[in-house]
This record gives sequence, C-alpha cells and structure tokens, in this order.
Amino acid sequence: MTAAAAIHPRPTAVETLLDREQERFRLTHLKSEAAWKTGQEHFLYGAPSHWMRRWAGGFPVYAAEAKGAHIRDIDGHDYVDFCLGDTGGMCGHGPEAVTRAAARQLERGATMMLPTEDSLWVGAELTRRFGLPYWTFTTSATDANRGGIRIARMVTGRAKVLVFSGCYHGGVEEAHVELRDGHVGLRNMIHPNGVDHSAVSKVVEFNDIGALERALAPGDVACVLTEPLMTNFGTIPATEGFHAALREVTRRTGTLLIIDETHTISCGPGGYTALHGLAPDMLVAGKAIAGGIPAGIFGVTEEIAERLWALVPKVNPRIRQSAHLGIGGTLAGNALTVAVMRAVLEGVLTEANYEKMAANAARLAEAARGVIKASGLPWHVTRVGARAEIMFMPNPPKNGAEVRAARQGDLETLLHAFYMNEGILVTPFHTMFLMCPATSAEDVDRHTEVFARFVGLVRDAGVV
Ligand SMILES: Cc1ncc(COP(=O)(O)O)c(C=O)c1O
Repeated sequence: MTAAAAIHPRPTAVETLLDREQERFRLTHLKSEAAWKTGQEHFLYGAPSHWMRRWAGGFPVYAAEAKGAHIRDIDGHDYVDFCLGDTGGMCGHGPEAVTRAAARQLERGATMMLPTEDSLWVGAELTRRFGLPYWTFTTSATDANRGGIRIARMVTGRAKVLVFSGCYHGGVEEAHVELRDGHVGLRNMIHPNGVDHSAVSKVVEFNDIGALERALAPGDVACVLTEPLMTNFGTIPATEGFHAALREVTRRTGTLLIIDETHTISCGPGGYTALHGLAPDMLVAGKAIAGGIPAGIFGVTEEIAERLWALVPKVNPRIRQSAHLGIGGTLAGNALTVAVMRAVLEGVLTEANYEKMAANAARLAEAARGVIKASGLPWHVTRVGARAEIMFMPNPPKNGAEVRAARQGDLETLLHAFYMNEGILVTPFHTMFLMCPATSAEDVDRHTEVFARFVGLVRDAGVV
C-alpha cells in the first residue's frame, strides 16, 4: 500500500454506495438540510433530542405532518412510517379517538395534581390486560423503570440490578452496561460518566440460565430488569424454557423480576406477558400506552405492594407529609395523559387492531423472506406480533454477543439511507418494522418492492 493510500484508504464498495445515497438524499431534502443547519445554532445536538440526529441520510428529515401510517416532510416527500416514533406512535398518527380525548381533556384541565375518574377505568383495564393488581404512572418508560428499580431496592435492601447484554431500558444508569470479556462494561457507544457500574449493575447474556444463576447466587441483586424478548439490539427471542427458568431462579434467590413491555406491548393487548402467561413481580410499559403523549406505567403484585406498604404505609390521615417514594414526577398521571390512555385502551389498541397489525407484520416478514430466499443471502426475518426485523445473519441470535459478531453497521446504514430515499422510514437503530392500525397491505408491499431493489443494488455492486 502506498503512503497516500494509507492516509486516504479507498472507500469500500458499501461506502461508495452510501456516499451516493447520502448525496441523493441531500439533493432531494434541501429544506430539511437547511433546517438542520439552523438547528445547530439552537440545540446541543442540532435537534431538540439528541436521538433525532441518528438518521442514516446524514441529517433528519423535518416532519411537516403525520397521519395514520404516513409522514410528510417539509420537502414534500411521503414516507410509509414503520418507525412509528420507535413505538411511541404505534397507535398511528392522529387516531381520532386520541385527538378527540386529548382536545376534550385540554379544555377541562391538563394537569391538576388530582386524580380523575378516567384513572379508575384505566387502572381496572391495566389489571385486566396485564394481570397485576396495583399501578403507578410516570411520564416515561425510563421513569417507570427507575421507579420499579427503586421499589425493588427498598423492599429487598439490595443495591444491584441485573440486565442482559445488549439491553436498552431508557436512561436507566444501571442498565447502561454490557458484557465485556466476562465483566461489566459500558454499553455500546455510551460515554462514561464517572459511575462505577460494577457497584450497581450485573450483566449476563440473554438465554444463559447458568450465568444468571451464578450472578444471582450471592444474593446481592435487587431485581432482574429485562424485556421478555430483546428488541433493542436486533430481535433476540427467548429460547424454550428461558422464562420458566428465569422465574424459578429469581424466586429462589429472593430477586425481583421486572418485565419491561415498553416495546413488546406490540405482541398483543396484554403484551408478551399475557400472551405467554409470565408472572413478573413488576411490569413496565410506556410509549404507545398514551398514543404518543408522554407516559409510563408500572404494575406490582399483591406481594410487592404488601412489602412496600410495610415500609411506607398506604394512607395515614394524621401525617400528611409522610415519606414519599422518591419516584414519579409532578406531571405523572396528569388528567390529559390519563384521558388519552383511556381512549387508547378503549378504542385503538384493541384485539381487532392487534390482529390487523400482526397480519401486516406477517405479510411484510413473509415477503422479505421471499426476497432473501430468491437472492440466496444468509439473512433472516423475525416476526413477533406487530413487529418484524430483518437481520444480516442466517438465524435468530440467542444473545447480544451473537448479534455483535454478525453486525454489519455500514450495510445497515446503507439500507436505511436507501429506504429514506425511497419513502420508507424504519427505526434508525436497526432494521425493525412496526405496524399501526392504519398500516395497509399497500404500505407493506411498498416495502417489499423497495427491499427487493436494495438487494438487487448490493448484489450488483458485489457488496454481499
Ligand atoms: C424496552 C425499553 N424500555 C424503556 C425505554 C425507554 O423509553 P422512554 O425513552 O420513552 O423513556 C425504551 C426506549 O426505547 C425501551 O426500548
């Protein structure tokens, strides 16, 4: 290799294609590009949330409006939205039941530090769906996880939280870890912040019951926090018998089990938990539960409630300023959010809509499998409920290590940039598709056609 080539290595075939797609994107999204430049003057990371910068085109499109399963950007492009706000928009954009309930409640008071009668209906419905008797509301799933962890620490007197490598549970410090050479390391791309994670976290591979048993044996873990199947590092299904063993070993070691259904609520009306008869000590959800209005919820069993009330009594009329729990926030359970949650549970995330969403996810997965099979590529598609995922490996992974070993980040970025140029939005982190009630068979077929062209493109370029 010459010195010049070492300093300026030739771009790989994927990089050449990506440069081309990003230039195509730039030239057709001039208004978004200009908005993004102006955003640099006002925002720490160019946009109101740093997550918004992580799109494959090189900058985000600026949304003009969204309806149902479609988004229109300020340059006038239409997208089939399979990202759906990374699940926050799983009800679809602007469903009538939600907009009507929100408008009505805004006129009657958005937030009052008072419960409304809607909360009674919502509480009963959450118990009917998920099986847990007592609920608390927060303003995000992150906050619900933090609340669950705090309660687990209160009732067990233990400090540590165990998570599975490759997990994501929001801005929960204890979960910002992954397994590195058998030890607790910082999660992929998380910047260090001075916290000694080995003091508060344990981490093992998903589906590895032996490692879990060893990690819980010392009796210093307050809770295991897990999704019922992993959705944040590619889709990693739970293997046969995993959940039964997880429940058994957590019970045996006095460790609480928190199941985070924030994404897997896409499995059905009561999430994966109801579908598979899981029995967590606590259950967390958020995002879609209030139609995109900030909300988080967590439920606890009778036993956890009793243990908590022994520490912090339920009601004591004589002592108004009794201990608070150190969880939640001023706006948690506000009247607006609760009214919308009711509208969502009554009229949007219904059995019938879940069936439609699952059918469209199955249609997408089946068609994508067909494209993959015809091309002979060693890729696979997983479909769980209303969600599907294309992964660049032949079989579903068992754990985060397998995902990491097979990951082709540059090819994934190219696929996502191509999608955006062709009017398809997927979650910007990996190739995951979510259906909403308004997603149509035509929307799905649009993806199939675009995906087939992408496969042709990378095949012709000799990239795969
Ligand atoms: C499983 C899971 N839990 C919790 C969260 C945090 O949700 P939020 O960012 O709305 O607090 C996420 C976010 O992606 C998630 O995937």
